[in-house]
Amino acid sequence: MRAVIQNRYGSPQVLRLGDVPDPEPGPEDLRVAVEASAVTTGDWRLRAAAYPPSLWLPGRLYSGLRVPKHKVPGTVFAGHVESTGSAVSRFSPGDRVFGMTTHGTHAALVCVGATSCVARIPDALSTEEAAALPFGALSALVFLRDMAALRSGERLMVIGATGGVGIHAVQIGRAFGADVTAVASAASLPLASDMGASHLLDYALTDVLSGRRRYDVILDTIGTASFLQARRALRPGGRFVPLNFGLADVAVSLASQVIGSRRLRIGIGSDRQADLEKIAGLVSSGQLHPVIDGVWPLDRIGEAHARVESRHTHGAVILRMPQPDRGA
Ligand SMILES: NC(=O)c1ccc[n+]([C@@H]2O[C@H](COP(=O)([O-])OP(=O)(O)OC[C@H]3O[C@@H](n4cnc5c(N)ncnc54)[C@H](OP(=O)(O)O)[C@@H]3O)[C@@H](O)[C@H]2O)c1
Repeated sequence: MRAVIQNRYGSPQVLRLGDVPDPEPGPEDLRVAVEASAVTTGDWRLRAAAYPPSLWLPGRLYSGLRVPKHKVPGTVFAGHVESTGSAVSRFSPGDRVFGMTTHGTHAALVCVGATSCVARIPDALSTEEAAALPFGALSALVFLRDMAALRSGERLMVIGATGGVGIHAVQIGRAFGADVTAVASAASLPLASDMGASHLLDYALTDVLSGRRRYDVILDTIGTASFLQARRALRPGGRFVPLNFGLADVAVSLASQVIGSRRLRIGIGSDRQADLEKIAGLVSSGQLHPVIDGVWPLDRIGEAHARVESRHTHGAVILRMPQPDRGA
């Protein structure tokens, strides 16, 4: 099958197209014909081994010490079930599905467990729209619900509000009943407003953490703020949740649980089927809309990665997979 292949870490140029054997599903797996995927900031980090210095070793142990463990990159998929293992009953060939896995989705076919992070695509969505959701929406859901414990009526600030995670955090924060403040550049803020933010801050014009307004939760998707800076802008009991952190933050986070009332909450996202179904439900009820930055064909994978690495995307960078020629 056709796939993106990566044999070493580096710039987008390390990615090339090639042919690899088709993956074989186990008894509890689905084999999905991938029609669209996404290139995420997670894919950029795995391609370049771009980990915070203090997490270099854990990062490399996860992705491969000297060279990438998995030669076919990609974590997001949307398409249809091509075949199922003998023990699978909840999905059938032809079902439209989307989801996330650890690797291998930048390819024509990928195998995933039937109880892993895979769900049916809501009827109203195209396959490309479905591919825009899993990475950013699952991260936003897990970080706001489980780490920030965001509650209705609270004030939420999202730094990086129109990116892969941020654009979903604005919408999910709103769906949770929070009053949402979006931080991005002037050009991006109208999109954040359309998605439900009530207050807009341009990071080029103001120090967003020095204003008079105080927040219950600050979600930082970009890594521009430290806990010390964010603390000033938190209400008593407030939580600062950065998506990127280093080893030192682990100690600060533990200390913040016992000193003062403001907390630093850090953690790693999780990809669960039940949460993806919750995302599908939010789409069906009109509370969550996919946002697509642009669509790149598979053979322009390097350009798609460069776009993600710019850190100025508006929603998801989508990869369109070549479809088999079905003849005349
Ligand atoms: N811990 C975990 O488990 C976990 C899970 C998922 C993601 N992550 C990490 O979380 C991060 C989130 O990535 P993402 O995909 O959401 O990022 P992204 O798509 O690159 O974010 C882009 C957004 O950030 C804004 N932005 C750029 N520079 C900014 C600045 N100086 N101040 C404020 N906003 C700025 C951009 O607005 P403009 O275009 O207007 O500048 C745009 O809205 C990644 O680093 C990823 O590795 C961690």
